[in-house]
Amino acid sequence: MSLPSSTSLLLSLTILFCCLISFVCANRLIHQTCMDCSKNDPNISYKYCVTSFRSNHKSLYAKKLQELGLISIKIIRHNVTDTNAHINELLKKGNKSIDPFIKACLGDCLEVYSDTISTFRDAIRDYKAKRYADCNVKLSSIIDASTTCEDGFKQKNDAISPLTKRNEDTFQLSAIALSIVNMLINTDK
Ligand SMILES: *[C@@H]1O[C@H](CO)[C@@H](O)[C@H](O)[C@H]1NC(C)=O
Ligand SMILES: *[C@@H]1O[C@H](CO)[C@@H](O)[C@H](O)[C@H]1NC(C)=O
Ligand SMILES: *[C@@H]1O[C@H](CO)[C@@H](O)[C@H](O)[C@H]1NC(C)=O
Repeated sequence: MSLPSSTSLLLSLTILFCCLISFVCANRLIHQTCMDCSKNDPNISYKYCVTSFRSNHKSLYAKKLQELGLISIKIIRHNVTDTNAHINELLKKGNKSIDPFIKACLGDCLEVYSDTISTFRDAIRDYKAKRYADCNVKLSSIIDASTTCEDGFKQKNDAISPLTKRNEDTFQLSAIALSIVNMLINTDK
């Protein structure tokens, strides 16, 4: 066996080892963060938290809670942006069979969710400047948007919300981000 090939083998093994270590560490950060989140807020499911972070490749490279927190806010923004587009689509379909009550509710949802676009911008600005208490207020208003939207449909007994899954996603994801922000408030003191 020639020396260069054993060197390159060693190099490959080293790279593999480093990848493995950083992957394990990132997973530990996600695991620990989601454990803490679900402990601090009974509304947060550990499994949901882990799954949502793992589905975002950036969180696999996160080394600190601060990084994970920002990623979590961006995950919600991505989710809500998609929900906005989805509601627009539902409304624009010109589907005559769409119930007028449902249509009105969808309009209300679009309004509250559209308002969150500027809220996300401010929340991210606050987060980056470590104004965690201000960021908390903004994230809370995003949670409110999800419950306001879902509650609208409940005003009529036989109405079925077409947005339940999406509202639940927004609620869960925002609760996770809020929980991280609250941990950061406490560690900053
Ligand atoms: C859990 O969700 C409920 C329903 O929205 C809310 O009233 C309550 O404050 C939440 N709990 C926490 C700890 O945030
Ligand atoms: C929103 O987030 C949830 C949880 O990570 C995910 O299951 C869902 O697919 C996302 N939806 C969109 C439209 O990105
Ligand atoms: C209208 O929407 C309803 C519910 O989404 C669906 O079941 C129905 O097939 C749609 N009708 C047309 C004409 O697109």
